[in-house]
Amino acid sequence: MRYTTKQQQEFYETSKKYLDHPNADSLSPADLPVLENLARFHEYRYYVLDDPMLSDFEYDQLYKLLEALEKKYPDAASPNSPTQRVGGTLTEDFASVQHLIPMLSLDNSYNADDLYKFDTQVKKLTEREDILYTVEPKFDGGSIAIIYENNQLIRTATRGNGVEGEEITIQSRTIKSLPLEADFRSKGIYRAELRGEAVISKERFKAINAFRAEEGLTLLANSRNSATGGLRTKDPAETARRQLDAFIFQMGFAEDENGNDMLPSIRSHHAAIDFLGSIGFKVSQGEKKVCHGIDEVIEQCNHWATIRDDYPYEIDGMVIKVDEFDLQDMCGFTSHHPRWAIAYKFQAKQATTKLLDIEYQIGKIGSLTPVAKVAPVALAGVTISSISLHNEDFIKSKDLRIGDQVLIERAGDVIPYIVKAFPELRTGDEKEVEYPTHCPSCHTLLVREEDEAAWRCTNPECEAQILQRLIFHVSKDAMDIDGFGEKYILRFYDLGWIRTMADIYRLDYEKIAQLEGFGEKSAEKIKNAVEKAKKNPIARLLHSLSIHHLGQRASKLLAEKITHVLDLANWSVEDYTSIKDIGPVVAENTIRWFSNENNIEMLREMEAAGVNLTQTESDKPKELITDGVFSGKTILFTGTLTQMGRKEAQQKAEAAGAKNISAVSKNLDILVVGEKAGSKLEKAVKIGSIQIMTEAEFVDLIG
Ligand code: IVH
Repeated sequence: MRYTTKQQQEFYETSKKYLDHPNADSLSPADLPVLENLARFHEYRYYVLDDPMLSDFEYDQLYKLLEALEKKYPDAASPNSPTQRVGGTLTEDFASVQHLIPMLSLDNSYNADDLYKFDTQVKKLTEREDILYTVEPKFDGGSIAIIYENNQLIRTATRGNGVEGEEITIQSRTIKSLPLEADFRSKGIYRAELRGEAVISKERFKAINAFRAEEGLTLLANSRNSATGGLRTKDPAETARRQLDAFIFQMGFAEDENGNDMLPSIRSHHAAIDFLGSIGFKVSQGEKKVCHGIDEVIEQCNHWATIRDDYPYEIDGMVIKVDEFDLQDMCGFTSHHPRWAIAYKFQAKQATTKLLDIEYQIGKIGSLTPVAKVAPVALAGVTISSISLHNEDFIKSKDLRIGDQVLIERAGDVIPYIVKAFPELRTGDEKEVEYPTHCPSCHTLLVREEDEAAWRCTNPECEAQILQRLIFHVSKDAMDIDGFGEKYILRFYDLGWIRTMADIYRLDYEKIAQLEGFGEKSAEKIKNAVEKAKKNPIARLLHSLSIHHLGQRASKLLAEKITHVLDLANWSVEDYTSIKDIGPVVAENTIRWFSNENNIEMLREMEAAGVNLTQTESDKPKELITDGVFSGKTILFTGTLTQMGRKEAQQKAEAAGAKNISAVSKNLDILVVGEKAGSKLEKAVKIGSIQIMTEAEFVDLIG
């Protein structure tokens, strides 16, 4: 507790005194710090401890008194007063900021066996048998990193890509459970970076959606999106309206005035969390448990699986951490996660509903994706009405019929998935699925290549494909034209202003400014974003062209070898395949793309419009590509994959940094198992060190 009993008694009595005479006229500037501290105390009782001492009405009275007095004596008011949480200003653009230390993610576990493996590794790394673990809830919200300097909150950032995030300081100041000031100096700490999760309580989430439904606004998808959306809104007043909470789960960094590391003096994770709780932060104090050994950890995880639904916040699992900092140091990190911590994910949630219809969508390279339309059903906090069915084989393997009752699940609590149909519930009115033979957009006959799971429309002029390619071209993964999303593409396409990617770079901004809903300011914004994108490295440009199988990584590898994008027009298969990790499939597709005169012409037009086509510093070879989820890992697929063909899976793994190998041995890092996996799986289990992953987990990871 941040306050002693005596202090609390005093705060209570003083509050009552002010409440007896709530009139600012009778007060002087000397009352300001007193009232401010009272408001801070009651805010803490309410938002951090969930245990208010005053009624809402009384707290409101005190708060209003403070506001009135601050208005009367503005020069004496403090910038960190509880009334100053919502500043008046809007954020123009979120500034990109570097984290003091990278924000890694956690490795996942799903059952007791995974936890035993984790324990074995920890024991090996620390050469200790008696390990203390802390077990605490894994909050499902938005990750934040908060820096305090000299006891003051000075900066908050989102996780971003883990190395860089977006600055959201003014948004975070509206989170009432996040202190604007905290007494780090009591432990000699001058600067600290804390990690935590901004969340929305289940109750608050329901209330927001009830309000939105009444107002006819679109409903928020789930509490996690509501929390992350609340952080990333440019208007801090909107963040305040969402009433987020911030749970602090890690002290990432602490140093004194001379830059000395202060973490060793705190010694353990549980001591750090207790300390943070004692200086006013919302932490999992009561929820966390220090466990002696892995069996106690497993017991605690099982217990939480039974009570998670009653917990006031959405949690998707538990986090297990080696408690002592010295031992954490001995465990170290991989490039993605600490070896001293692991997430234990709860079972995905399931529900049953009716398959009403199947719609078909054409993607940027013409692949046809069937999408199930189901009777809306609530699943783990989200209403589900559409579910991807991946491809024809998936539908066949599940023997789905229109009208079937189906079991659905949210794998990893995110992607909805059809587990199976219930043939025993069929009434005879169900209809067999008639898979289309022609493109729903341009009616071209669909083809399916060997080793590919999807049927494809091969008409390069297909309007649906053109639109999808344009949408992809401007997206974050491709040219990253900020603010230029699907909506603008569709609008400018309808107006006939955009037909090819080159048109994006020669828009008439004066005409855009005249459009309804636009104006000079938004036209200027688009122009700036487009101008910025023109300078992108060619690796981005290559990826943005939607050449089948040419992913982010392969684009980088090609960019390293050329000085100008049009060099590729003269490349042979051997030129491509002589590059390590580029195979004949990428080669053939890229050659085909560059042999189309229209594409060459489009690149020339782009260049004429100012788009960079020559190699830049960032295209040049780097020692290691470390930004894929599987960077540096070897991978092997076994059994029958249901969501994609084997080759496609291998390409995807490669694009995420993995190297495909063909045999199970100690050199293998990851084995992805499809249906009816046999001897390879057995061998991998025997070896023990290989990470075994289901196809769904693989798909989840590559996003
Ligand atoms: S510890 C070095 N503890 O889960 C990583 N993370 O997949 C330290 N999360 O990005 C993370 N509750 O946003 C930790 N009690 C908890 C957590 C937690 C939620 C989130 C966090 C992180 C993600 C990891």
